[in-house]
Amino acid sequence: MVRKAGRTGEAGRAGGVVRRVGEVEQVEAAGEVNRVGKAGALRRTHIAALATYVPPRVLTNADLEKMVDTSDEWILQRTGIRERHIVDRGVATSDLAKEASLAAIAQAGLTPDDIELIVVGTTTPDTIFPSTACLVQHKIGASRAWGFDLGAACSGFTYALTAASQMVASGAHRHALAIGADVMSSIIDYQDRATCVLFGDGAGAVVVSALDGRSAGDVGIIDFAHEIDGSGGPALCMPAGGSLRPASRETVEGRLHYVKQDGQTVFKFAVRKTEEICRRLLARHGLTPSDLNLFVSHQANRRIIESAAARLDLPADRVVINIERYGNTTGATIPLALNDARADGRLKQGDLVLLASVGAGFTVGAVLVRWSI
Ligand SMILES: CC(C)(COP(=O)(O)OP(=O)(O)OC[C@H]1O[C@@H](n2cnc3c(N)ncnc32)[C@H](O)[C@@H]1OP(=O)(O)O)[C@@H](O)C(=O)NCCC(=O)NCCS
Repeated sequence: MVRKAGRTGEAGRAGGVVRRVGEVEQVEAAGEVNRVGKAGALRRTHIAALATYVPPRVLTNADLEKMVDTSDEWILQRTGIRERHIVDRGVATSDLAKEASLAAIAQAGLTPDDIELIVVGTTTPDTIFPSTACLVQHKIGASRAWGFDLGAACSGFTYALTAASQMVASGAHRHALAIGADVMSSIIDYQDRATCVLFGDGAGAVVVSALDGRSAGDVGIIDFAHEIDGSGGPALCMPAGGSLRPASRETVEGRLHYVKQDGQTVFKFAVRKTEEICRRLLARHGLTPSDLNLFVSHQANRRIIESAAARLDLPADRVVINIERYGNTTGATIPLALNDARADGRLKQGDLVLLASVGAGFTVGAVLVRWSI
């Protein structure tokens, strides 16, 4: 196999010979090999706890019918969404992340002082700086943690999970928080019917811990794959508010501090890439989609998830869809879907679960997990 170096999360190889040839790394392997760790140098990690939080206020399709020219029928048919949760004024991403984080830490049987790293995947930080990670660290009292925000839009959670997991796998830290949290309502134009029906607010947090002494078999976080493709930038973006177009009277009057998207381009890319990255990650382990117990993808649109699942030949009972209740909460969708699946008894210890995401950028991610809690 020949691949571009650094294109995926194949952080070293066991069982294959790796040669660097310019920008391209050639991996001569028995099949497509395991990831990880020069000769097993990395520790295995797992999701030790998972918790989510959504603000109490609900915005239904009927509410939106009163705000823009839309209908419950259109929204449900085109997106699968019935309602979404929206914060009250003054509530920010770090507030939602705090609730999810404290619950996850308690569930893991830890205290905030046990957390050494906080990675927040968010597109709606409380402020450009300080980072939301700093705000969460202070709000939960994680006195020993460092951390950072990670901008990967709707791939925020898969990227944060991989980043946190690799830091724990390296031996640098024992317990990390990977958070996906967004207050999308802060950057949504509630006069634009093409986008305002899609998004909601929410947060999810997992504690990622080392699996010392429990490493028999493929338990925990098995592998990951990620891509970025900046050519897709214009298809989904917030045009102003950054260094290119700082806030000005013109940007505000032009409504440029809101999400703009070419829905069909995003839709097609998401379906194609979700299938591609999932098959690639599974193939690396000699697996096919039929080996999965559960497929938990980013929840952007019911039709995207169903189309990707159909391409992967996955039956409906192995696909988690909960977009109906939350809309697209960007960084929070995958933890919200995992948590609902767990509550319903669909996600069980020992299940082989594939997480997948596509987001603005474009960003693409997949994480393969043997569920351990
Ligand atoms: C946004 C999305 C739901 C639109 O669905 P679609 O089937 O592509 O619909 P179109 O954009 O082609 O619009 C079809 C018609 O519905 C209209 N429409 C758009 N939003 C509407 C709404 N909320 N209510 C009623 N009509 C609406 C359009 O104006 C258009 O009307 P026209 O035919 O008269 O021009 C869909 O493209 C999508 O989900 N894309 C991906 C978005 C996404 O996942 N973003 C986040 C990625 S992480």
